[in-house]
Amino acid sequence: MAFSNRITKLFGIDYPIVQAGMIWASGWRLASAVSNSGALGLIGSGSMYPDILKEHIQKCKSATHHPFGVNVPLLYPDIDKHIRICIEEKVKIVFTSAGNPNTWTSVLKENGITVVHVVSSSRFAKKAEAAGCDAVVAEGFEAGGHNGREETTTMVLVPAVADAVKIPVIAAGGIVTGKQMLAAMVMGAEAVQMGSRFVASEEASSHIEFKKLIINSHEGDTILTMKQLTPVRMMKNKFFDEVMQAELRGATVDELKTILGRARAKRGMFEGNLDEGELEIGQGSALIRDILPAGVIVKNVWKEFEDSLNNPIKKT
Ligand SMILES: Cc1cc2nc3c(=O)[nH]c(=O)nc-3n(C[C@H](O)[C@H](O)[C@H](O)COP(=O)(O)O)c2cc1C
Repeated sequence: MAFSNRITKLFGIDYPIVQAGMIWASGWRLASAVSNSGALGLIGSGSMYPDILKEHIQKCKSATHHPFGVNVPLLYPDIDKHIRICIEEKVKIVFTSAGNPNTWTSVLKENGITVVHVVSSSRFAKKAEAAGCDAVVAEGFEAGGHNGREETTTMVLVPAVADAVKIPVIAAGGIVTGKQMLAAMVMGAEAVQMGSRFVASEEASSHIEFKKLIINSHEGDTILTMKQLTPVRMMKNKFFDEVMQAELRGATVDELKTILGRARAKRGMFEGNLDEGELEIGQGSALIRDILPAGVIVKNVWKEFEDSLNNPIKKT
């Protein structure tokens, strides 16, 4: 079934599915595989030095003729350099996150770039709309990685944001199947952004041991933690136990920063140290049972979406 809505037209894609930009997981290999399948692939620039980002954009351009984008989390250093590279390399779509949409949206828009901002409340969604963003990602509490402090679930956030703004809404957080995608679209989203599902793909640069951990995980294995620093949803492990013990004895922000240290996320997700590393992943991991090529994930989700659309309620 050919499908068209404001999001497929905005990005020039076949399926309203976005593969999230993710540190240590979504380089050019994953982004181009997703884009080649007719969805939108994003390069996650958050774990890349500027020259590495440039290399990934150039490799992505040679690996796909389809649209792709770059995610720029605004909380990391080198943001001005990352933005400049996106402009110089003529990236057409940028997803900003973890920061103020007023800072960079106009600069990107002046350079002809489609801008999407990630939000965790309808208040921030309105701010992104006022800043000139073309769409927002409404990312709920279930999502892997950095997350809102207010803990609003996707089930509540998506309809609230869809009511609050006129620009299209992309739902994120806990979505790994076509049925969930249909539910999100019924609630007012015009596309979905999936992160965790694509971490367990063949093309993701995440470590194979992390991928295996995901496909063997269950509900309750992830937690939103480090709320005193930047809240992050990750897999419970030895590192999380250390954080929890510190929080229980009333550790200060500086003590927590020392425990976090440097390169925790790289150690866990990229190098596969499942005990000592920070393993960012969403609640949806409990529903992921296989590591698949990214293009197969897109096809499977879309097929289940279409099947469910034709027969949405299972009759007994
Ligand atoms: C391993 C991992 C890394 C992530 N890194 C980023 C990031 O660099 N920038 C960002 O905006 N979001 C990041 N996220 C959040 C995703 O962009 C996305 O919104 C989220 O994964 C959606 O929820 P889901 O994991 O339930 O699909 C990350 C998520 C995961 C699982």
